[in-house]
Amino acid sequence: MAEQTMTAGNEAAGKGQNKAGLEGIVAATTAISNVDGQAGRLVYRGYDIHELAHATTFEEIAFLLWFGRLPTRSELGELQVSLREQRQLPAGVLAILRALPPETAPMDALRTAVSAWGMYRNVQGTPTIEQAIALTACFPLILATFQRLRQGSVPLESRADLGHTANYLYLLTGQEPKAEHVKGLDAYLVMLADHSMNASTFTARVVASTASDLASAVVAAICALKGPLHGGAADKSQEMLAAIGTAGNAEPWIRATLASGGRLMGFGHRAYKTTDPRAEELREMARLADPVGFTFARRVEELAIAVLEETKPGRRLYTNVDFYSAVLLNSVGIPVDLFTPTFAVARIAGWTAHILEQAANNRLIRPLAAYTGPASLPFVPLDQR
Ligand code: ACO
Repeated sequence: MAEQTMTAGNEAAGKGQNKAGLEGIVAATTAISNVDGQAGRLVYRGYDIHELAHATTFEEIAFLLWFGRLPTRSELGELQVSLREQRQLPAGVLAILRALPPETAPMDALRTAVSAWGMYRNVQGTPTIEQAIALTACFPLILATFQRLRQGSVPLESRADLGHTANYLYLLTGQEPKAEHVKGLDAYLVMLADHSMNASTFTARVVASTASDLASAVVAAICALKGPLHGGAADKSQEMLAAIGTAGNAEPWIRATLASGGRLMGFGHRAYKTTDPRAEELREMARLADPVGFTFARRVEELAIAVLEETKPGRRLYTNVDFYSAVLLNSVGIPVDLFTPTFAVARIAGWTAHILEQAANNRLIRPLAAYTGPASLPFVPLDQR
């Protein structure tokens, strides 16, 4: 009976459903965001990312993702107040951040702190919007606190007169944030706030689908974002640009990397078969923010696309969001190993919106696997092996 059930499952899994990496599989319905990878279009709840990028703030976008529509001025004010009120870490989380060795990767510090936050805040049961707001408010605090501690500096208190993005920059540096840095980082946070069924969001939804709690789903999402094939490519793109060093070295470096089976960080995407629309925006922002860094990155980009086309014909590998993110984040003074955690500062809005959406209409996510092991082996007891 058990074998019959397994065989039936394998047949189902074998009938066109065994897509490596779940490519092309629709795993959920969502009204939060949509990626049209052929057209290079991204919308949040119907609004084009090109329009949202410079005309909105991160707080407005968080409202849009969570509540399904753009806020009025007073609704935005209320959300800003809620976010400000939640800018505090439980004493236990602070103690854990203090106990971490300074060489801890900030993404690991974030993962550990969010897990502890869930425990100290006793986050249990069905995810709520209040939990989403509270955790979103805490991400910049966690990272800036850890950044100050590992430098041997005293963590700073949040400033009530600063918005979410400006306060993050202030907490990191202790300096009055420059208006152009706040604007640049805010547009970055807007553009990276959500991206449909990417790997980390899928992970969050899988955990939420087991009726687990919001903090646990977010910890899992952080773990998925960390990998260099996903958000970890933000740091790696910067490392790649540093390793190339000069425009003259770009082509030989790219060819040698591809010839040895390496990947060019910040290029290629599962969904986009054309340039990522966020990369287009970030390219223009990088041009204004750091003309020297931009000129070099642009040369690397042109060569990378040309050599990828030559060596990987038909794969349609273009610039993704992480390539110019590196130039932009560098220009606003974010340390390289905080690039991917800063990606998480944006994506927490999308993750929590998806967790709430999943919880509101839940069914356990539990796919099949196509079994490739032996069907039936005679068991040999330990003393006879
Ligand atoms: N450099 C070199 N070759 C690449 C790259 C790249 N960046 N991306 C894909 N390829 C090649 C693969 O080697 C493969 O070649 P093959 O057919 O000869 O075997 C082919 O293109 C298809 O690659 P897959 O891995 O099957 O494509 P997939 O859709 O699974 O990968 C991914 C998407 C993981 C993003 C990939 O393009 C990649 O590794 N890019 C570099 C890392 C990166 O920038 N990640 C950030 C993505 S954006 C984000 O998550 C926020």
